[in-house]
Amino acid sequence: MEILCHSAPLHEIKAEASLIFVINKEFSHEWIADSELFGSVGFEGKEGQTLFIPQSKTLYYALDSLTPDSIRESSAKALRALKKYPFSSFKVGIYTQESLECLEAMVAGFLLGDYSFETYKSQKSESKLTQILISLQTHLGRQIDSKSFETILARQSAIARAVNLARELVNTPPEDATPQKIAQAAQKVAQEHQLECRIEDEKFLEKEQMGAFLAVSRASIHRPRLIHLTHQSPKPKLKVALVGKGLTYDSGGLSLKPADFMVTMKADKGGGCAVIAILQAAKELGLELELHGIVGATENMIGGNAYKPDDVLRAKNGKTIEIRNTDAEGRLVLADCLVYAQELKPDYIIDLATLTGACVVGLGEYTSGVLGHSQELKHRFIECATQSGELTADLPFNRHLKKLIESKVADVCNVSSTRYGGSITAGLFLSEFIEESYKEKWLHLDIAGPAYVEKEWDVNPHGASGAGVRMVLQFLEQLTKES
Ligand code: BES
Ligand code: ZN
Ligand code: ZN
Repeated sequence: MEILCHSAPLHEIKAEASLIFVINKEFSHEWIADSELFGSVGFEGKEGQTLFIPQSKTLYYALDSLTPDSIRESSAKALRALKKYPFSSFKVGIYTQESLECLEAMVAGFLLGDYSFETYKSQKSESKLTQILISLQTHLGRQIDSKSFETILARQSAIARAVNLARELVNTPPEDATPQKIAQAAQKVAQEHQLECRIEDEKFLEKEQMGAFLAVSRASIHRPRLIHLTHQSPKPKLKVALVGKGLTYDSGGLSLKPADFMVTMKADKGGGCAVIAILQAAKELGLELELHGIVGATENMIGGNAYKPDDVLRAKNGKTIEIRNTDAEGRLVLADCLVYAQELKPDYIIDLATLTGACVVGLGEYTSGVLGHSQELKHRFIECATQSGELTADLPFNRHLKKLIESKVADVCNVSSTRYGGSITAGLFLSEFIEESYKEKWLHLDIAGPAYVEKEWDVNPHGASGAGVRMVLQFLEQLTKES
């Protein structure tokens, strides 16, 4: 989608169609030419209500109030509605108060709402829409300078390209997105964006004594890969390591998932794909940091050589892990990758993972859990997430839950002794692999809910949403500003 700005007032811009937002039932705005028709067709201006007037080729889209969240979502939905008509372009004005947040949100909504997963459809949906013309005049009569607009457009485009890359990788079926293929995708991103890229195979995992990661990967015919991308800015202000869970399929292993729960487990690579996408955007945005992206890519399968409940594994840091459920595999892959990440001596470590069903039960499908030992760091992250348009909630650790992952036979157990607080006990398991000096510098993001939702919601289509990409990028930008 091409987005262009025009300094002319909206009515002077030539386009095949128009999009007009109707805010808070204000029908008397100068941009609204068809208000006398609203009553006769029952258009009351209720949130989300739309009306298309064929004569003026105008789509009216109602919002209760003008907030970044409402205009982002509405822009995505309006775009999808307009794609059903045979227009190749439409025009729209800018809706914004003092700050330009609502303009950023509108642009984000258009770019994120434009994605659909059609790679495997013989019949692609035919939309002619390729161009959006934005008048630099705001609905309050202010003129936005084109330079500010171009800055916003460039930033939102880089972010949206990353979100859409993560969506595409996550949506790709497991036989076409094996650990090796995900590694190739990372290599392609690296080549096109001049990132450093190391792809390690099981020999490396053995050499590094990553016994937990290796055990998970054992029963799959698709061999594991450790992907390590690096973005090095000329003048880095700080060093950050991102770690992603890249389970290209999670069958549950010998603790096999029931049939209905296995469907959608291609999305268990959501954290890893987000990490690859974030590295791409970090480069495009020129973020002033040294950023490492580490992805543990593997499948969790069954077979004669599968790892088993009752096994005891040894992770890279020497800790032993009693396995009581092979479906709690993500934390095992992450344990080794987190130890690897700490050896890079970053200032912060953030992991992203579709880690627990409990997180989806607790927070709903749309919200990610934010876990860690530093209240302050979680708080700073959550602020950025909200600004970016992603939903998050703080899931607090406590010493009582920590007891639940104690093991009688090993240093720690891979599952809790009760089913309550499953996301927090999973986070506490990861914490066992975070050194004391890193406890306050580590965040764990459980994106199990929003990474893959089987219906349209917010700016997202059915399927993968690219969860994590926007909020982590916003946080990284914030960190570089503070440093
Ligand atoms: N990949 C799943 C978590 C998941 C569930 C992600 C639903 C997205 C949607 C994870 O590996 C898993 O299976 N976790 C188990 C842990 C349990 C065995 C302690 C779970 O959540 O049931
Ligand atoms: Zn699992
Ligand atoms: Zn999993």
